Amino acid sequence: MSIKVVLTEDEIPRQWYNLAADLPSPMQPPLGPDGNPVSPDMLAPVFPMNLIEQEVSQERWIDIPEEVLELLYRWRPSPLHRAYALEKALGTPAKIYYKNESVSPAGSHKPNTAIPQAWYNKEFGIERLTTETGAGQWGSALAFAGALVGLEVKVYMVRISFDQKPFRKVMMETWGGKCVPSPSNETQAGRDILAKMPDTPGSLGIAISEAVEAAVTDPTGKTRYALGSVLNHVMLHQTIIGLETKKQLEKIGEKKVDTVIACAGGGSNFAGLAFPFVHDKINGAQIDIIPVEPSSCPTMTRAPFVYDFGDTAQMTPLLPMYSLGHNFIPPPIHAGGLRYHGMAPLVSAAIRENLITPRAIHQLECYQAAILFARTEGIIVAPETSHAVAGAIQEAKKAKEEGKEKVIVFGLSGHGLMDLLGYEKYFAGELHDYALPEEELKKSLDDSLQGLPKPAGV
Ligand SMILES: Cc1ncc(COP(=O)(O)O)c(C=O)c1O
Repeated sequence: MSIKVVLTEDEIPRQWYNLAADLPSPMQPPLGPDGNPVSPDMLAPVFPMNLIEQEVSQERWIDIPEEVLELLYRWRPSPLHRAYALEKALGTPAKIYYKNESVSPAGSHKPNTAIPQAWYNKEFGIERLTTETGAGQWGSALAFAGALVGLEVKVYMVRISFDQKPFRKVMMETWGGKCVPSPSNETQAGRDILAKMPDTPGSLGIAISEAVEAAVTDPTGKTRYALGSVLNHVMLHQTIIGLETKKQLEKIGEKKVDTVIACAGGGSNFAGLAFPFVHDKINGAQIDIIPVEPSSCPTMTRAPFVYDFGDTAQMTPLLPMYSLGHNFIPPPIHAGGLRYHGMAPLVSAAIRENLITPRAIHQLECYQAAILFARTEGIIVAPETSHAVAGAIQEAKKAKEEGKEKVIVFGLSGHGLMDLLGYEKYFAGELHDYALPEEELKKSLDDSLQGLPKPAGV
């Protein structure tokens, strides 16, 4: 009986998979403020050119540099587990597997892209990175990567998470990074928001504005910005998750996967696990591929496909994506990393092509699922990850009703040991479900999208 399937270092995939090469219709380009497509040169103040090349690449397979692999070996390949105990508790005939990204030093999948992003920046001669973080997972991951590669890292952390999770800051500092609450007084974007809303809990959109501004206004020209999700090159780096998973399933003779599930905030851990399976689906495989989001921040299930900014201060290009509107201030649910207004253009494109089927689940069902998971499999998952667990449990129950021995694979994107406040509130009965009222959604869209161009075909 294999409970864990492990790969050795020399079995690690040596190339990333780029879904952009295989989409049935090409992606629509990001647009600049004038409504024209953004050229790679226009992104140069924000990102190093080697990552911009990956961002716009149409190559299906992209080599992972040997030095990046050597850094990833600190915890990769990550284990694939069979959730026998959960299956037994559910009495399901389904086989449930989970890919465990919580084993990274920062506790989530985020270092899979933090390491290559830091490495490519260093190669390009950059000395300092700025970024935002919601729940703190991405900021920690980039601080960790900065320590390994030798870059300074400055993190703008969404205020509500900064207050709720003081130990994330300590983690970032331990790896040599600096972390301030956002909105801050250090940037024009932060000062403007604070003048209007001094008590704002902050949002990822605001923190992104601050981090981008800090990078592009650095007079030395040696600072760039790093984004932990949403962009094509981030999805690309994360595909190592799904590529390893496929090798692991092959290793134990599991030939057919029926269902792939992961939570989606900006889309990166979902894309990482799912895109190699989307590749199979494009080539004829029958697989249900399900990104799960919170019902309170229903980007994929209720928002329109539009051109929208990635941040509140409108500093990023316009991206073709599902979006609740860049002015959306999400309700303070405990899955901080799932409170983003947009969805990665690549994930959005896969939804438009009917390759994947999004689902929204309420917070309380997710906590119930996470607690059952902790009491069977043992791992206390991140509140974000609880959405994937809840999705997998829904599918396993369905398999039981249908009497089918389905193979379900889900992404365990991170552990929740730094997020216990959410669990505490759940046990105290202080958490509630929240469905975004239609009027609020409409207001955010009206406020955010007026005058912006529309994607073709919409
Ligand atoms: C553990 C964990 N899972 C999932 C997410 C959501 O991000 P993404 O959709 O980019 O994977 C986050 C973001 O902070 C996270 O920390």
